[in-house]
Amino acid sequence: MVFSVSIRASLAPYIVSALLLFLLLEQLSYLIKKRNLPGPLFVPPIIGNAVSLVRDPTSFWNKQSTIAKNSGLSANYLIGKFILYIRETELSQQIFSNVRPDAFHLVGHPFGKKLFGDHNLIYMFGEDHKSVRRHLAPNFTPKSFSTYSVLQQLVILRHLRQWDNSFSNESRPVSLRNLVRELNLETSQTVFVGPYLDKEARNRFRSDYNLFNLGSMALPIDLPGFAFGEARRAVKRLAETLAVCAGKSKTRMASGEEPTCLIDFWMQAIVAETPPPPHSGDDEIGGFLFDFLFAAQDASTSSLLWAVTLLESEPEVLSRVREEVARIWSPESLITVDQLAEMKYTRSVAREVIRFRPPATMVPHVAAKDFPLTESYTIPKGTIVFPSVFDSSFQGFTEPDRFDPDRFNETRKEDQVFKRNFLAFGWGPHQCVGQRYALNHLVLFVAMFSTLFDFKRFRSDGCDEIVYSPTITPKDGCAVFLSRRVAVYPNFSA
Ligand code: HEM
Ligand SMILES: *[C@@H]1O[C@H](CO)[C@@H](O)[C@H](O)[C@H]1NC(C)=O
Ligand SMILES: *[C@@H]1O[C@H](CO)[C@@H](O)[C@H](O)[C@H]1NC(C)=O
Repeated sequence: MVFSVSIRASLAPYIVSALLLFLLLEQLSYLIKKRNLPGPLFVPPIIGNAVSLVRDPTSFWNKQSTIAKNSGLSANYLIGKFILYIRETELSQQIFSNVRPDAFHLVGHPFGKKLFGDHNLIYMFGEDHKSVRRHLAPNFTPKSFSTYSVLQQLVILRHLRQWDNSFSNESRPVSLRNLVRELNLETSQTVFVGPYLDKEARNRFRSDYNLFNLGSMALPIDLPGFAFGEARRAVKRLAETLAVCAGKSKTRMASGEEPTCLIDFWMQAIVAETPPPPHSGDDEIGGFLFDFLFAAQDASTSSLLWAVTLLESEPEVLSRVREEVARIWSPESLITVDQLAEMKYTRSVAREVIRFRPPATMVPHVAAKDFPLTESYTIPKGTIVFPSVFDSSFQGFTEPDRFDPDRFNETRKEDQVFKRNFLAFGWGPHQCVGQRYALNHLVLFVAMFSTLFDFKRFRSDGCDEIVYSPTITPKDGCAVFLSRRVAVYPNFSA
């Protein structure tokens, strides 16, 4: 005993100095990487500034943006990683345009590869990736959109009817966040693979997606009973279910039947090729479909909630939307594709919602090699880079701080004029494949919701502030008082 204590005592100074040396090297390494960029001079050891990030992400990133005002970028240190925040659009463009094996790789999610495997579309490069993207094209044509539009509307209208039954004229406000989430999950499910899921599969699908959601925010402990492990297994089950759908769809499409959902449009093109293209086995398609689901879900929820929030605070915009929609559509039948195309102002509103509150405010990438970003600064290998799509939204555009849907009208065309600043859907090889789908969904929702409901926000303290979840949502989850705007909730037919 005495002996071991004395050994410990004699080792103590060495342990302490090794520790000090480690801390010193950590600080030095940070300072060398940071060079003359703005950012904290000293960083807390090991965890870096993770505590202030977790405590208040909005302030953390705001501060990172503010200090980047002159140089266009700023540095920090999080959990052993040197990070760069990019404020300036042209610098962000360089990250998005250089996604390739020897430059930047999308991160997507801190533990993404563990959670949903490395077959994800976002981790693919070059020809391989291009080939998969090319085969996705039939999913996003006018013909396929007209099929989706019917499915989307039937789901939206069913959910709005439930909202009416449960919440119209209630004296207490309802928070829309979870309701919109459920609406979106059902829309994606139905549009992507609806006909191939029976009732039981749909319910399992919902509970598995919830498990995934919970685990995607948890620490990556892959054991039974831990949220992350449960999420990983849920993702596996979901991808397997989707793979079965892909197989069934191939059989139907091979026999020449008409496509009725997204997977059909996709598989119709796949089965027409001999030999089958790379990455078109059922399991891989199932994995890609899961990526779709994941990519579609939170971002759409965010955009629908901000649409309600912004329409409520801009009564003039809301009344112009209602006027336009009423001129084109009456709520007895579904909105046709032509009618949807005519709703130009409402589409501008949808675009402006996404510019003003881009759901994914940053799109993190990791530098696979040293990358010369500017004449004076080279991004060191291993850096996590955060191009801020949010900051780009407030550069370039005329009066960028104003919520002004007219900027996207046919005279001003700011979506073209300031194209390089519209980064909400990314840029370059991995730019969002679902962007037109997402805009259509938002336009349909806005048209129907604002026609069928009057809505008033319940104004709690700071309710409009941005919170990260991790796409952005209004702080209060968008609490509203709802009342029906039409005498009776209409019965819709396709
Ligand atoms: C408002 C809604 C949406 C927003 C803001 C959004 C945003 C984004 C962003 C920022 C990226 C990364 C782009 C890049 O790295 O350059 C992305 C990728 C992607 N998105 Fe979306 N998205 C939305 C909806 C959707 C929907 C509805 C779908 C599917 C129907 C979808 C499917 C995808 C896929 C598959 C990728 C990966 C593409 C690739 O790696 O090649 N997204 N999205
Ligand atoms: C709900 O409230 C509105 C406005 O106060 C009223 O016009 C309407 O009749 C009420 N509807 C129901 C179903 O009570
Ligand atoms: C576009 O908006 C501006 C106002 O910002 C307006 O002067 C112009 O007439 C609009 N153009 C169209 C085609 O609506």
